[in-house]
Amino acid sequence: MAKEKKDFIKIAVMGGDGTGPEVVREGLKVLETVSKIENFKYELVNYDLGAERYLRTGEVCPDSVVEELRKFDAIYLGAVGHPDVKPGILEKGLLLKLRFELDQYINLRPVKLYPGVDCPLKDKGPEHIDFVVVRENTEGIYTGMGGVQYKGMPSEVSTQVNCTTRFGAERAVRFAFDYCRSRNNPKKQVTLVHKTNVLTFAGDTWFRAFNEIGEKEYPDIKRDYNHVDACTMWFVKNPEFYDVIVTDNLFGDIITDLAAMIQGGLGVAAGGNINPNGVSMFEPMGGSAPKYMGKNIINPIAAIGAMGLLLREAGQENAGNKIEAAIMKTTPKMKSQSAGKMGFSTSELGDLVAKTVTEL
Ligand code: IPM
Ligand code: MN
Repeated sequence: MAKEKKDFIKIAVMGGDGTGPEVVREGLKVLETVSKIENFKYELVNYDLGAERYLRTGEVCPDSVVEELRKFDAIYLGAVGHPDVKPGILEKGLLLKLRFELDQYINLRPVKLYPGVDCPLKDKGPEHIDFVVVRENTEGIYTGMGGVQYKGMPSEVSTQVNCTTRFGAERAVRFAFDYCRSRNNPKKQVTLVHKTNVLTFAGDTWFRAFNEIGEKEYPDIKRDYNHVDACTMWFVKNPEFYDVIVTDNLFGDIITDLAAMIQGGLGVAAGGNINPNGVSMFEPMGGSAPKYMGKNIINPIAAIGAMGLLLREAGQENAGNKIEAAIMKTTPKMKSQSAGKMGFSTSELGDLVAKTVTEL
């Protein structure tokens, strides 16, 4: 989508935990190089959010920090997570809090198999795997609606509500159709993924929003529908079916992890939590990988790719394209996408992508 081009980009940087800061460093290296070539300026402000701060202070993400973050153009996140922090604390207190508070209602996950990257699917190459998942990012089962009663008793009961609104489905669907137009892939097709055969209420809201909006506002785009379980089969058997997928929050969470594997793993998969009219947050999909921390062996390609997405969202389309092109020239030189087996260190790869950007 044509974005207003920002010539000065204010970026909040959250390296986070484990290997997060190491991969973020390489993304920032490539940012520095590409900004000179494309002639834009930026400002970086570091935020020490994550497990380390939580363990030290008991604070995850104070409201005052959220208010500060509203003033940025984008957030660049490494990873959060630590073996000493109970599951759910950082996820809810930081990642989901930012998604919800900043209304980052789209989770955008390009799924592209870069040249030279090992794909676990037999007989599939870069020409077969090039699609985008548009995941609704603020509703569904993630809202935390519901509760538990009689906890610890034999009669314990818990509910977790799948909150679907027509408004939420509509804005995700429009984003997906617009994105499909701007991608200009010859397939020109958006696939809705849900489970309408069982979730006959929420699924129907999505189905009608998708078809009514598609028919009226996007007659140039083909519409298709998959049940989510079938979609996971097609990802493995015929990933070339897809151009753009739009789906609900939890289904999107699950299928994008599968998608990350068919594109070569978490070392390459990048994503964005997007508020098209606000502050968006970009991140490599991999976690904090504590066992690789400080060894300079983690793959920074996903983090560099996330910087490419960030720049596109800031309207620096050429810069984003250059980063992607440089990544595509770098991946064939790598022995593997796995930490420690790449044939390069983390910082060497950052150097290589940055150098390649200058040679395009
Ligand atoms: C993701 C992650 C998050 C999610 C977790 C960490 C809350 O798995 O970004 O896909 O479930 O959305
Ligand atoms: Mn996930």
